[in-house]
Amino acid sequence: MKALVTGAAGFIGSHAAERLQKGGLQVIGIDNFSDYYEVALKELNAASLQQKGITLQKMDLRQTSDYDNLPTDFDFILHFAAQPGISSTSTFEEYFSNNVIATQNLLEFAHKNKNLKHFFNISTSSVYGLEATFPETVAPKPASWYGVSKLAGEQLVLAESRGKKLKASSLRLFSVYGPRERPEKLYTKLIGCAIKGTKFPLFEGSEEHLRSFTYVGDIVEGVYKAVVQHAELDGEIINLGAEDEHKTQEGIWLVEELLGKKVELEVVPRRPGDQFRTLANIQKAKKLLGYSPTTSLKEGLELQINWYRENFL
Ligand SMILES: NC(=O)c1ccc[n+]([C@@H]2O[C@H](COP(=O)([O-])OP(=O)(O)OC[C@H]3O[C@@H](n4cnc5c(N)ncnc54)[C@H](O)[C@@H]3O)[C@@H](O)[C@H]2O)c1
Repeated sequence: MKALVTGAAGFIGSHAAERLQKGGLQVIGIDNFSDYYEVALKELNAASLQQKGITLQKMDLRQTSDYDNLPTDFDFILHFAAQPGISSTSTFEEYFSNNVIATQNLLEFAHKNKNLKHFFNISTSSVYGLEATFPETVAPKPASWYGVSKLAGEQLVLAESRGKKLKASSLRLFSVYGPRERPEKLYTKLIGCAIKGTKFPLFEGSEEHLRSFTYVGDIVEGVYKAVVQHAELDGEIINLGAEDEHKTQEGIWLVEELLGKKVELEVVPRRPGDQFRTLANIQKAKKLLGYSPTTSLKEGLELQINWYRENFL
């Protein structure tokens, strides 16, 4: 079985590519190595995949001509590539082109794959809005360009399923952390600041935010289970995340405890559209996939600190 993983040089896509290969799939990854964050980090992820025998092609999903270089005999497409996160430096055009246009182009490519069994869209808790504690049946109320553009991409994919054109589903991921986490996200930045003794920019009020921080290994386990169970998932939306919640402040204390160092905080203005609570409701994932995340925040952070030390010190 052959799988195309988009965004395979990124944080979660690279882990997913490895998990699918471990599960016996032949994986081809693609990525445009966007400069949203340091390209060197994506090259590090890409090198790790290539060492494991996973092919990675550079292409931009927005460019229709780039698809000419791809084979068309995929059994599965897993779409991780995106303009991620809520960032004041990302433009509306970047969110729209990478999360909506790119998804539509990929769907058009998907039709050329006559063996295709399932198209998995990777979505986010941000589609729920400022609070993300709900089952999949609740109407989404995104509060950021990121959330709105990811919801639009998700609906493009699900429309293909409703129209019986493709078998497809969407997996909504919650607050993912672990080795290779994007450098502008909480823990990679926090660990770096603690180790280097630099100030950590804390968004005003965010220490009180609640998050179901989910270890990336538990996320890609859920993704793999979904691939295995694909025959029962056409048209479904499924939340994947940890069932316990922690304040961001607790995460800061845990990193300090694990490193034996205090982090100096510098309060910076709050981010518009930032969620104040995420808590994954995974009843459906449990029922359909037998999904059950197992990694505690402390265990996951230890692994992320080890990764940071191995690669950046
Ligand atoms: N990190 C999280 O906590 C989180 C939570 C929920 C959902 N998600 C979703 O998971 C997916 C992966 O996120 P991530 O955190 O790994 O981000 P990431 O930025 O590390 O990975 C995304 C990858 O996609 C690539 N990419 C972007 N636009 C592209 C294009 N037009 N063509 C080809 N490649 C392109 C980027 O270069 C990058 O390597 C995204 O769809 C995101 O919305 C992430």
